[in-house]
Amino acid sequence: MRHFFARGHALAALLGLLACDQLQALAQRRPAQPEKSVPPPVVSGPWLLDPEAGRITVAWLTQAPSIGRVWYGTTATDRLATEEGHAVSEHRVTLASLQPQTQYRYRVEGSAETFAFTSAPEAGAEVPIEVLVYGDNRTNSGDHALVARAAAGEHAPLALHTGDMVVNANDADLWRVWFEEEHDLLASTPFVPTVGNHEITDSGVAYSKYFQHRDRPAYWSLDYGPLHIAVLDSFETSAGATPHSAGVSEAQKAWFEEDLRKVPKDRHVWVLVHQGPYSHPARARPGHGGSEAVRATLAIGRLVHPIEVVFAGHEHFYERGEIDGLSYFVLGGGGAPLEDPDPSFPGVQTAQKALSYAMVEVCGCHARGVVKDIAGRMIDSFRLASCPKPCGNQEMLPALAALEAPDAGSLDAGSRRRGRRRSRTEETADAGVSDAEPTSR
Ligand SMILES: [Fe+2]
Repeated sequence: MRHFFARGHALAALLGLLACDQLQALAQRRPAQPEKSVPPPVVSGPWLLDPEAGRITVAWLTQAPSIGRVWYGTTATDRLATEEGHAVSEHRVTLASLQPQTQYRYRVEGSAETFAFTSAPEAGAEVPIEVLVYGDNRTNSGDHALVARAAAGEHAPLALHTGDMVVNANDADLWRVWFEEEHDLLASTPFVPTVGNHEITDSGVAYSKYFQHRDRPAYWSLDYGPLHIAVLDSFETSAGATPHSAGVSEAQKAWFEEDLRKVPKDRHVWVLVHQGPYSHPARARPGHGGSEAVRATLAIGRLVHPIEVVFAGHEHFYERGEIDGLSYFVLGGGGAPLEDPDPSFPGVQTAQKALSYAMVEVCGCHARGVVKDIAGRMIDSFRLASCPKPCGNQEMLPALAALEAPDAGSLDAGSRRRGRRRSRTEETADAGVSDAEPTSR
């Protein structure tokens, strides 16, 4: 009996060896299977660039080069967009064939997080939109993080940045912190920045890498529903600009003029630029105040098309005014060390030393907005354009409802009498909206 079991064990061992040999032979005959590649971890981003009707670009940075892939869709992330070209660490993937003004979810491979954004409306569409405007960040002991957090809470479908993100564009660590502090905002809000003087401390290398479309200069324009937004570069290095002095080339001026020629007359035209045409710091500094080069550029454009408003930064405070019929904003309270404005200068309608950002709403021929501090308190409100035609059933920003009330002030009445769109900023006292005390930090 014991002998029988011993023979049985030997037979089983022999069969086992045979099976093992056969498996090895099979494995040798089978073609090698490609190893499943693991996407490298995401180290910064994602953020969203170039929002146009039907498309948007997702950008992010990875620890190692790879071919970027983005999963996206309206309900499930079941569509795949793959990066063209060779493996890189600085990724750009364009999502195409998007429905207008539709919420999309997306996930970048290498990250477990899923985010959502709202796609751009069709160019010229008379649809209500909201736009966040802010700028001049730096890390500055967390002040930028406070502004970014408050701004992210607005859930705006579009953000305009007036330039100056980090103090030294050569410092990769400052960019890492900047992207960390902007993460919640930029993962969900398409981002349209302009070049600040601090973005040319490395000759624009980092700005180009992170934000600039690779096939065009830093000045460009986009149509976003009822808006035409011209992004100017007030620190154009090819025009001799340095971090301490602005410059606009003749080529940029000619482009701006031709760009505006194509814009329908009833379109809201906004200009985004770092150093604006006017600003009034309490203490004069070389390279600050309004830019003559930008004023000259805007003057050329205004001969072609009315400019509803210019959004700028460069000075670290909030200022709103109207000079020579041009409405302008200085929105530079995005986290950089605050400075004192001079609210007494003729044409300045309000100015405050405050960490702040603006939310602007466009609805048909109406354009109006509020400026808030980091606690969410409204520190200013304004109207940029109005007309007798109501803007429909849109639910307005609560702070703006007062502006639309029947007794909202004589300026509204004047607009109705004229029966056409006005383009001007105005004081808010008549509208029953009080300015809060300036916030200083
Ligand atoms: Fe600046």
